[in-house]
Amino acid sequence: MDKLGVAIIGCGSIHNVHADAVTGSKLSHLVCVADIQRDKAYTSAQNYNCKWYTDYIDAIKDDAVDVVHICTPHYLHAEMAVQALLAGKHVLIEKPVSIHIKEAEEIIDAREKSRRYVGVCFQNRFNKTSQKAKEMIDSGVVGAVKGVKGIVTWFRDEDYYTKSGWRGRFATEGGGVLINQSIHTIDLMQWLGGGVEAVRGSVSTHLLGNVIEVEDTAHATLFFNNGARGVFYATNCYTTNSPVEIEIDCEKAKLRLYDEKLYVEQDGYCNCIANENGGETSYKSYWGKSHADLIQRFYNGILNEDLGSIISVEEAMESIKIIDAIYKSSSTGNLIHI
Ligand SMILES: NC(=O)c1ccc[n+]([C@@H]2O[C@H](COP(=O)([O-])OP(=O)(O)OC[C@H]3O[C@@H](n4cnc5c(N)ncnc54)[C@H](O)[C@@H]3O)[C@@H](O)[C@H]2O)c1
Repeated sequence: MDKLGVAIIGCGSIHNVHADAVTGSKLSHLVCVADIQRDKAYTSAQNYNCKWYTDYIDAIKDDAVDVVHICTPHYLHAEMAVQALLAGKHVLIEKPVSIHIKEAEEIIDAREKSRRYVGVCFQNRFNKTSQKAKEMIDSGVVGAVKGVKGIVTWFRDEDYYTKSGWRGRFATEGGGVLINQSIHTIDLMQWLGGGVEAVRGSVSTHLLGNVIEVEDTAHATLFFNNGARGVFYATNCYTTNSPVEIEIDCEKAKLRLYDEKLYVEQDGYCNCIANENGGETSYKSYWGKSHADLIQRFYNGILNEDLGSIISVEEAMESIKIIDAIYKSSSTGNLIHI
């Protein structure tokens, strides 16, 4: 196989990030795009010089397609992933892997039957800062993790929800600030901290309760497998999108990820030891800059049969389990084991 043939399903806001990465990679070429909105599919096909469909089934059945990228509303992820796998294609799914745990398990079943690869877009794991923090924790140089803090204070207005049709509804988005905006932070917290075994948390809607049925604010205490404790707060009710803050309190040092930088606090000194090197991005800054890297690693994983370069469904499910536990804890007041 010379280059992987790619189909992108969904030509909305994240679409160009994927299409630019596919067309910019030496390992792939864009065969086709699909969107139920004809004008979006057509415009993308004109921009990227590829075929276009309005029925995603036609895209996954296209013989020239090896890999399908799923960039659609959350409620469609599992169904589309299963269909693409059963058609013999590899699948890259935008976050969240699915809305419900059961759907993620269905993707795993289809993956096992089809013997194809599935990856999930948690691109922030591949930020230089996240990679360096993970390396320092795993090597033991900063000692055991004692605590993990994650703070997301962002802004989403009425237009954001009303213009999209699928956002703000449990059936189609699957939740609010938890499953959409702060899922990257939840994933990084559990990945860096070493896995979460129990959660006590609460969700609420502070603004736009007349527009959305999902939560715009959530907080939780996370109990990690290794005995560490985490605190998490996320809201869409701020007035701007502030940089996300993640702090890992380790025995010998404190690691702080903030505004594209990694700081290490040790013996009274604070040093910045990694940063994303600034640089312009034509996309929304809070999407980060690592989509192309993740996509390249996914293709390398497929071509070299190397699972290590791929964020698996199982790994991506951890964040879904934590979110599910926060909802259950919020409605019962109980500590929920994962
Ligand atoms: N990784 C990140 O940082 C990041 C950033 C933004 C969005 N996302 C994720 O990407 C996905 C898409 O988000 P978005 O902001 O681009 O949404 P969007 O609403 O802008 O685009 C979704 C597109 O899917 C199309 N669509 C809907 N039903 C379809 C169907 N049955 N067949 C084909 N196309 C269909 C819509 O017409 C629309 O063009 C979501 O899962 C979102 O959470 C991830």
